[in-house]
Amino acid sequence: MPQDFSTLRINPDRMLDAFNQLASIGATPDSGVDRPSLSEAHLAARKWFREHIEQSGFEFHTDGAGNHSAVLPCDDSSAPTLILGSHLDSVPNGGRFDGALGVMAALEVLKTVRENRIKLKVQLEAMDFTDEEGTLVGLLGSAALAGHLRQEDLQNPRGGRDRLLEGIKRAGLSESGMLSAARKKDSLAGYLELHIEQGKRLESAKKDIGIVTAIVGIWSYRLSFIGKADHAGTTTMEDRRDASLGASSFTLEARELVLREFPNSVVNVGKMEFAPGAFNIVPERVDVSLEFRSPNDEEFNQLNSALLDLAREEAERFGLELKTEFLGKHSPSLMSEIARTAFAEACNTLQLSRIDLSSGAGHDGQSLADLCPVGMIFVPSVDGASHSPREFTKWQDCVNGANVLLQAALRLAG
Ligand code: GLV
Ligand code: MN
Ligand code: MN
Repeated sequence: MPQDFSTLRINPDRMLDAFNQLASIGATPDSGVDRPSLSEAHLAARKWFREHIEQSGFEFHTDGAGNHSAVLPCDDSSAPTLILGSHLDSVPNGGRFDGALGVMAALEVLKTVRENRIKLKVQLEAMDFTDEEGTLVGLLGSAALAGHLRQEDLQNPRGGRDRLLEGIKRAGLSESGMLSAARKKDSLAGYLELHIEQGKRLESAKKDIGIVTAIVGIWSYRLSFIGKADHAGTTTMEDRRDASLGASSFTLEARELVLREFPNSVVNVGKMEFAPGAFNIVPERVDVSLEFRSPNDEEFNQLNSALLDLAREEAERFGLELKTEFLGKHSPSLMSEIARTAFAEACNTLQLSRIDLSSGAGHDGQSLADLCPVGMIFVPSVDGASHSPREFTKWQDCVNGANVLLQAALRLAG
């Protein structure tokens, strides 16, 4: 007789205890966490996760990219693996839930399956992917595991080559080892992730669960506007070649361009670095950290050309040189029908309301989407806040999400 899993639930108190322990690592005074990838605080969180896995009696697994996981093997050692997971790194001064919830829920699902002695047809693995957020490379661990990482991706990463090398050394990893994390396509049964929504759509629609249809792609550049350093008091306004004008004007015009012509896309200038950088020197150089996101490749290509043309025009307008450095891209990806159906059925079983929605945030699933069925669910973010210490999700919503993850995993694995 087939096993009936429908009444199975995760243990909310056990998951909360683990979640709170994790949230205390790299905690900031305003209830957030500061755990940029491979920083001391991130390494401490990774160490805590490893110890927690071992103390819980699971097999601990790591690879050349530093991905950490708990494995619950099945009787057939040749069966493929269903991975559940997310990430333990955070953006600088970020929130407690982004990534951490997905990892804690994944491990709680393994604990629930094991204590109920459920026989699965796949290996189940709860994964913490290395460097999801892009403070170094972005989706690094998942790209390595998917076999998509190339040596050149490590040469000029978003976070800077020196910081990447320092992080790799601090973590006891190696650049050459990164590529060895690649797994074979036929070893993967699928990838499921629970995450907070990081937007307001679930809250506004008063729904419990968002089933993700697609994840946007992300392209990044460093644009350098280069002028001439001069005395800020004695140089006339007409004579200046002020790099800040090109950078600022580009930022404002990029917003107008996207609003006018690319309604499905977003653009962000997250950082500007001024050189020499003093009150009384006309800025010689401004380095602009530019990122833009779009749900489809065609729109990406058009937006890319439009933004680069705009940067050239603004540089010319203020008599500046422009240097552009492409820092990498993550492709948009569709979530699998199989995973979406499993999540929808799980919501029905748990009597939770749901809507379909797309993800404007990047996630590790997009690295794996061409290898195996990938699916994601979101739970409501209070006031939509994320990438900020204000990030908050009610615990009952986190528990709902973990139960949907459990029920969907059992559907794919049972
Ligand atoms: C990751 O959270 C991103 O979307 O930047
Ligand atoms: Mn995340
Ligand atoms: Mn994030």
